[in-house]
Amino acid sequence: MRLLILGGTAWLGYEVARQVLERRHEVTCLARGEAGPVPTGASLLKADRDEEHGLERVAHSQWDAVLDVARQPGQVKRAVRDLRSAGNYVFVSSGNVYADQGPLGQDEDAPLLAPIESDVMETMDSYGPAKVACEQAVLESFGPEHCLIASAGLIGGPGDTFGRTGYWPLRFAHPSVEDGSVLIPDAPSLPTQIIDVRDFASWLIDCCEQQLTGVYNAMGDTHLFNDHLAAAQAVAAHQGPLVRAETPWLREEGVSEWSGPKSLPLWLADKDWWGMNARSNERAKAAGLTLRPLEETLRAVLAWEENEGIERQRNAGLSRKEEAGLLSALTAR
Ligand SMILES: NC(=O)c1ccc[n+]([C@@H]2O[C@H](COP(=O)([O-])OP(=O)(O)OC[C@H]3O[C@@H](n4cnc5c(N)ncnc54)[C@H](OP(=O)(O)O)[C@@H]3O)[C@@H](O)[C@H]2O)c1
Repeated sequence: MRLLILGGTAWLGYEVARQVLERRHEVTCLARGEAGPVPTGASLLKADRDEEHGLERVAHSQWDAVLDVARQPGQVKRAVRDLRSAGNYVFVSSGNVYADQGPLGQDEDAPLLAPIESDVMETMDSYGPAKVACEQAVLESFGPEHCLIASAGLIGGPGDTFGRTGYWPLRFAHPSVEDGSVLIPDAPSLPTQIIDVRDFASWLIDCCEQQLTGVYNAMGDTHLFNDHLAAAQAVAAHQGPLVRAETPWLREEGVSEWSGPKSLPLWLADKDWWGMNARSNERAKAAGLTLRPLEETLRAVLAWEENEGIERQRNAGLSRKEEAGLLSALTAR
């Protein structure tokens, strides 16, 4: 197979390129080269997709499949125009395209947000509508029988520089206080749903090889937050107490939900968002998506986190100092 990855220098695209090479296919990555290198053995063509004819160097080749990870509608519109002869166009989208993030168990027939009209997404606030516009461009150009839309849920595992999936196993393995206490939000039945980057990449390659088409939720299995924490504790061999904090207090203390600095990763207090991590992945599983157990993902991301350095500034979660301060404030109440 001759695969063109539009991307390949960042996390998921790199993992796809790495695994494609393991399967002894030919892979070319097109990117600016700003996000990082491509795996040894893959070719990197440096080009800027914001330019009108940025894809000129790949437009005249015959590709069995193209894998696109873009989020800018203009980039995707130019790509589907210039790569029309590709055997299959696989677009990595997101669960953020769906209009309602509240209901649990929704499948791919759930309504989508309205697309943005502009070719350029100015801020991440319009990420979902921008991905809808990208999906529409792909579907209109290739037709549903020659393209695949993979709407990804939260991606996790080794290489997660966003820091969302590594936080809990890392914190359990290296508590911030001597008695091993770990601060958790009081949200036992909150759904969590992570797809391991390695499983996702492997399935995307299967889709390219088999010229699979259609729209799929490429998401992990849903686990309640309590079970997710138990899995993270198990891989970290954590024995200390769990200290539950309630939403109003966490908000007063300026602790954020989901991701980013001073956050408790994966936590969503507002049930209107719980469906985001409880989408049906049945269609993708029926089409061959194979998911490893959550423990394996958490074990691998813990090893990756430890290798990156446990004292480094991370992109999500509480620092050890912040957590220790919050634990002592909570006990003093
Ligand atoms: N992380 C999650 O939990 C999550 C959840 C749902 C969906 N997703 C989706 O999953 C995918 C993740 O893909 P990823 O990790 O490989 O990539 P990414 O972090 O989204 O990076 C974008 C890729 O496109 C390239 N690129 C950006 N601007 C470009 C330009 N002007 N010209 C040429 N290339 C350009 C970048 O390379 P250069 O900078 O080197 O050019 C990079 O390889 C994305 O589609 C994302 O929307 C992620």
